[in-house]
Amino acid sequence: MAEHNTAPAAGGTPGLLEPLEPLYEDAGQPRFGLPPALATAYGGDLGFTPPCVYANFVSSIDGVVALGPEYPSSGSAISGRAPADRFVMGLLRACADAVLIGAGTLRATPGHQWTPDHVFPQAAPDFVELRRSLRRATQPELVVVTASGDVPTEHPALQSGALVATTADGARRLDGRLPAACEILTPVEGSTLRMADVLAALRAHGHTVVLTEGGPHLIGHLLSEGLLDELFLTTSPVLAGRADTSRPGLIAGLELLPNRPVWTDLVSARRRDSYLFLRYRLGPPRAHVAPHSALSS
Ligand SMILES: NC(=O)c1ccc[n+]([C@@H]2O[C@H](COP(=O)([O-])OP(=O)(O)OC[C@H]3O[C@@H](n4cnc5c(N)ncnc54)[C@H](OP(=O)(O)O)[C@@H]3O)[C@@H](O)[C@H]2O)c1
Repeated sequence: MAEHNTAPAAGGTPGLLEPLEPLYEDAGQPRFGLPPALATAYGGDLGFTPPCVYANFVSSIDGVVALGPEYPSSGSAISGRAPADRFVMGLLRACADAVLIGAGTLRATPGHQWTPDHVFPQAAPDFVELRRSLRRATQPELVVVTASGDVPTEHPALQSGALVATTADGARRLDGRLPAACEILTPVEGSTLRMADVLAALRAHGHTVVLTEGGPHLIGHLLSEGLLDELFLTTSPVLAGRADTSRPGLIAGLELLPNRPVWTDLVSARRRDSYLFLRYRLGPPRAHVAPHSALSS
């Protein structure tokens, strides 16, 4: 495992990490004008054009994003809690109006708060400055999607307040159990929510820049409706392996190749030690041709 260097960045807020090394940057990306300490640590500027839905995942080299139900908070195990990954998580949260997760991620991550400062407290004042400059609320609003309504209502993230998107059955199950700080979006009949409806409801709440932190089933739903605009992927320098337990990659419940390929464009690549921080843009189906397709049978 790479050594995690947390030395202060030259020119950055003391205590922030050494800058990520920019390896590639697509020209013409939107730029928020990050506060200097964040721009220094990120190795450049960052921005999003609303409306936008972007995902952030950490994966092992062999494509594992979750270790299985018996391992809570498995994203931390996969990232090794590397400060650079936690900084990028915090920065991406700080850019968002709302952080969207599925109930599976909530159930698997006890004690977590989906706020920028929870994962990278050293930059809390810089995240506040960024959100103020973007005229965002103090913290991004957490949004939890659940068909069943089977959510741990004592979870601190729900106690802090969240929007809950659920079905009519889920709403009945949650009736009277959710903390007062939570709000249920208009429940829908049926066993699955259309994510386009959920995003429309979020827009009605003023949330147009939405970060999703998954997990794989929620990403599958978003992709199946063509609603994911960008993917931030940290490749952690670790091998996770698979035996008999299910260890998903970043999409579950949906097959794309060979009939529905989703090609992407690399927007930026950064490096810190042996970690890679990749940003991809997903778009409408394009005339992408795999480089080797003319040669392979
Ligand atoms: N490595 C990473 O970066 C990363 C990121 C996120 C999560 N994870 C890991 O992924 C694992 C969880 O995976 P997961 O796929 O179960 O998580 P998930 O996608 O967050 O949660 C799945 C659940 O969300 C609800 N849901 C999602 N889409 C829905 C829709 N369209 N309509 C209604 N309900 C919907 C359902 O909840 P109900 O079952 O309540 O109906 C579903 O079972 C955990 O181990 C977590 O740590 C890893």
